[in-house]
Formats: sequence, structure tokens, C-alpha cells
Amino acid sequence: MKIIVKTTAEEASKEAFELIQKEMEKGAKVLGLATGSTPVKLYDIMRKSAVDFSGMTAINLDEYTGLSADDPNSYHAFMKEQLFNAKPFKKSYIPDGMADEAKECAHYEEIIKENPIDVQILGIGTNGHIGFNEPGTAFDSKTQKVALLQATIDANKRFFEREEDVPRFAYSMGIQTILCAKKIILLAFGKQKAEAVQKALEGPVTEAMPASVLQRHPNVIVILDEDAATLLN
Ligand code: F6R
Repeated sequence: MKIIVKTTAEEASKEAFELIQKEMEKGAKVLGLATGSTPVKLYDIMRKSAVDFSGMTAINLDEYTGLSADDPNSYHAFMKEQLFNAKPFKKSYIPDGMADEAKECAHYEEIIKENPIDVQILGIGTNGHIGFNEPGTAFDSKTQKVALLQATIDANKRFFEREEDVPRFAYSMGIQTILCAKKIILLAFGKQKAEAVQKALEGPVTEAMPASVLQRHPNVIVILDEDAATLLN
């Protein structure tokens, strides 16, 4: 695992962008993408860049259940606004939050099998979740319907008008699914992520801290800003 610490989130996002570009030059065709506030600067850099993504496939980590693709709070809408409207990809996949659970989860696994992810971008929850795999999720989990913990609902309510509007469930790639990516770039910015980052990178590998499983992946690059790195030894 390689850890890179940059002064600011902007510089860290630029570093991530350059890494993606390098992988694309080496032949990467499939990007695994995340939502939330962490990758927003990266997507801004991608949007403003001259890089052509029209030969690339994008596969997102997760989507809230019960929200249709055109719901402004859906991750479909988020990805269109943040990236896809400005930079079309050849194909982009996000779980269908309205689809039948068993069918959709199996279908998403098939999509990933057919389009192995070359570079997966990850954020991390303050409780150490990756994707929406909350603490306690089995390391051998595949795409499934997950219940969001209160801490995640609290963290995400900033995107919604009222707390009761925050969906309680999501379809998320499983931990095993995420680990199939050839390369993983984990981004974390801000003091509020420092404890989860320290536990994930330096603590025991345990299902109680989902991101700690990344210690077992052979090709992980962690890019932090100084605030997120404050508790590292
Ligand atoms: C989103 C996702 C989540 C977020 C995490 C951090 O697709 O998979 O794991 O990366 O909740 O969220 P932010 O970036 O908003 O702090």
C-alpha cells in the first residue's frame, strides 16, 4: 500500500487525476467511481481536462434504493451533473435503485465480471465504510442491498432537505467485488476522516473496519490531504 499525503484536497485530487491518466495511457478501460463529496474535486479536474473518456466504461459503487435515476438526490443524477454530462463515457453503470433486489445485484455482478475494473476510486466513511459496506459487512460480500447506519444517514443528510428523506437502504458493490479491481485509489480529506484513515491503514484488518481490508489488496494507493493524515504514525 502506497500512501501519498498532499497539503490540500485540491493537490490530492490532482494527484489522483494524474494517476488515472497514467493508467489510461497504459490501457485502462474501466474506471470504478464513487459519489459523495470526496471525489467532487477530482471530477471537476476531469471535466475541465482535455482527456477524452469516450472510450472508457464507468462503474459506480452504489445507489440508494427507492430513488429513480431522475431523482435529483440519486447517484445517477449526481454522476451526470458532476461528470457524465460534460465528459461522456462509452458506457456507464450505476445500480438501479428501483429494480428488484436479487435481479439487480446479480446483474451488477455480471456487469463487473464482463468489465473488470482497472482503477477503482474510493472514499471512506467516518465509520470506515467503503462503498456502502458498513462495519460488520463480510469481507466476502458481493453486490447486495445494505442498510445504512445512523452515522451514514447523519453524514449524508446534508444532501437532502429533511433527514427523513435520506434513504435507509442502498445497493452497493460488496467488499469482495471492490477488491477485484486491479488498482484501488482511496481518497480521504479533512480532519473528520483522520480516525477512520488511521484505523484502516494502521489498525488490525477486521470486518469492524471495512476499509482495513485494503491492507490485503496488492495495488492500493491512498491519497490524503494533511488533515486526513494527522493521526498516522
Ligand atoms: C459513495 C461511497 C461512500 C463514500 C463515503 C464518503 O459512492 O461509496 O463510501 O465514499 O461515504 O463520503 P464523502 O465523500 O461524502 O465523505
